[in-house]
Amino acid sequence: MVEAAAAFSAREITGAADEQDEFRNAVTRGLSAPVKTLECKYFYDETGSALFDQICRAPEYYPTRTEIEILSDCAGEIAEAVGTGAELIELGSGASMKTRILLRALQGPRAYVPVDISADYMRQAAEALQRDFPLLAIAPAVADFSRSFQLAPRGGSGDRLLFFPGSTIGNFDPTEATKFLARMRRDLVPDMFVIGFDLRKDRETLEAAYDDAAGVTAAFNLNLLSRINRELGGNFDLAKFRHAARFNETESRVEMHIVSRQAQTVYIDALEVNFAAGESIHSENSYKYSRASFETLAAAAGWRMDRLWTDEKKLFAVALLVPGG
Ligand code: TRP
Repeated sequence: MVEAAAAFSAREITGAADEQDEFRNAVTRGLSAPVKTLECKYFYDETGSALFDQICRAPEYYPTRTEIEILSDCAGEIAEAVGTGAELIELGSGASMKTRILLRALQGPRAYVPVDISADYMRQAAEALQRDFPLLAIAPAVADFSRSFQLAPRGGSGDRLLFFPGSTIGNFDPTEATKFLARMRRDLVPDMFVIGFDLRKDRETLEAAYDDAAGVTAAFNLNLLSRINRELGGNFDLAKFRHAARFNETESRVEMHIVSRQAQTVYIDALEVNFAAGESIHSENSYKYSRASFETLAAAAGWRMDRLWTDEKKLFAVALLVPGG
């Protein structure tokens, strides 16, 4: 059955009003800085989550379908490694499509715990999943996993398997990523960690993946401005901004920007924000790793890479990490 989302702490401490304050503070901080930024976690309101689903189906966006292909091939090996009665915890569950592949392979999992910042969206996804797996205990947890959070201990025995697909790890810079991986190990005490990451490749493929021809990624990026308008009383005119994606080779990351098409002043409630023509808000990074650079990152956070699976074209990778230096 789908249990209430109360099994854990973050929701109890942070109410909706606090979340709104936190959003306002983050936006004020980001847009008042000399180089303007917005925190990427704010992409995922209901509209944003739905647009992201569409990105995943865009022909240029290879990561989703490639990761699904890899997982389909290696799920049996993962299931074997993790054994019977596992507790599956998924970070940033979204539509839970990749979860189904794992769940089908696992032997008698005792629970599935999706963790996501978007409560409504997650509830819908959990209900849909429950229809496909009627006997599975599903316990959604509303949390911002970029902050510290804990999960209530659950009875029964079996490994705790952490699952973080989608190359979301690439959206942290390497220092944050190391801290995040170390924190997951310390706070959630998992026995295994299955994590997807994107491999470094040619500029054309990368930039097309983050700027699809149908304009879905552009809409997703600009939705940040709509959200500020809606929730914080902003007056952004979306027609006066455009989406840009560029591969920064030195940093090995694709950068997402919201570029001002002209000099303009925007108000967010009482806050005045000035833009020069061509000035951008840096809204997201997506870091690309090699096998070796990811192994080094994981090791710095106390994880050993036990297995690594990739597709034939070496576009994407799924790693099985275990605690240990
Ligand atoms: N984790 C995804 C990635 O880096 C997120 C993502 C895909 C994304 N497209 C985006 C984030 C566009 C912001 C803008 O591949």
